[in-house]
Amino acid sequence: MFETIVAAPPDPILGLTEAFKKDKNASKVNLGVGVYKDAAGQTPILNSVKSAEERLLKSENTKNYLPIDGQPEFDRATVELLFGAGHPVLAAQRTVTAQAPGGTGALRVAADFVFSTLGKRTVWLSDPTWPNHPQVFNAAGLPTASYPYFDKQTNGVAFEAMLNALRAAPEGDVVVVHGCCHNPTGVDLQPQQWRALGEVLAERKLLPLVEFAYQGFANGLEEDAAGLHQLVQQCDSMLVASSYSKNFGLYNERVGALTLVAPDEKQAEAALSHIKRVARANYSNPPAHGGAIVATVLNDPQLRTQWEAEVAEMRDRINTMRHLFVETLQEKGVDRDFSFIARQHGMFSFSGLNADQVKALRERFGIYIVGSGRISVAGMTEDNMDYLCSAIAEVLADDKA
Ligand SMILES: Cc1ncc(COP(=O)(O)O)c(C=O)c1O
Repeated sequence: MFETIVAAPPDPILGLTEAFKKDKNASKVNLGVGVYKDAAGQTPILNSVKSAEERLLKSENTKNYLPIDGQPEFDRATVELLFGAGHPVLAAQRTVTAQAPGGTGALRVAADFVFSTLGKRTVWLSDPTWPNHPQVFNAAGLPTASYPYFDKQTNGVAFEAMLNALRAAPEGDVVVVHGCCHNPTGVDLQPQQWRALGEVLAERKLLPLVEFAYQGFANGLEEDAAGLHQLVQQCDSMLVASSYSKNFGLYNERVGALTLVAPDEKQAEAALSHIKRVARANYSNPPAHGGAIVATVLNDPQLRTQWEAEVAEMRDRINTMRHLFVETLQEKGVDRDFSFIARQHGMFSFSGLNADQVKALRERFGIYIVGSGRISVAGMTEDNMDYLCSAIAEVLADDKA
């Protein structure tokens, strides 16, 4: 039955972690996967999460199934975190939210929803984007195309080219935009660029799908939603795939959500019935534990304050590492300008290191970076910084020689 099956290549990012684990080099550094690490190189459980779990352990009295769209307290807290409790789209009941297994689950439900209710639309992805995006949309039967995003010359956004590509997209297509902390480049849109993008999306009747996996990791929980808030002023219909993997550190609990904004309440409710239909066919109903943690923390003023401080701590640590990385490279005599890394946001940056340099870092120093040169800043610590920057300086110098 299975003898003709040829092994699939390992996932480019998770496969790297497997190789990292096997590496015997005591100084090895993993800058591959986008998982937050603290100063000790650990991925901690947040204190607010631990407290919520203690409460849940005492109060939980059933393991009965959740509703297909998850716990109502979770869904409400999620949409309020995205838009703010008093936002007009909430008052007008133009939004519906369904808990999903992670941001990835939310994307897949969004994709199945689009395919089955709107038909075969092309999904436009930034070039580059998170490598799992094309797979998720293609698996649901939706073709993907890409719009220019990263400008190698400026290490910024190729904004004119991006808008031009989207202006040429057929009406009704879906456009995935990263809400903040663009993965893999770390380069985000400026406020006036969000406005210009919103104009094009509304004018061309394109459906925005805001990819929001890192709320709180760029400038702040509210600040990071500024682009989303801009788009919702201009576009009457929208999808948002959000994730609590990073900002709650709930990676393995698989907790995220799909939120849909419609022009009115009736359309939102009709859409929800289809979101539930596709979720039912996919995983039936979402896992409970992670969603219960998020709902407990977000709905309790004390735990919420604690959580917000913990998100700020993660954000500050990443930003400190960005600056330290740039400074340490300078100290090591690297003359190439890496200062853009200090200006970017979130866990990732495109380092500009080429495939050979990435290979040399891995083979000679046990430093693991994705082949595209994307580095996860969250993997840097005060302790590994010197080793890391010396290695990069050596590889860059060898290349010049
Ligand atoms: C842009 C983007 N979307 C989605 C995800 C997946 O999130 P989750 O682990 O919640 O499925 C990630 C995680 O790496 C991501 O970077």
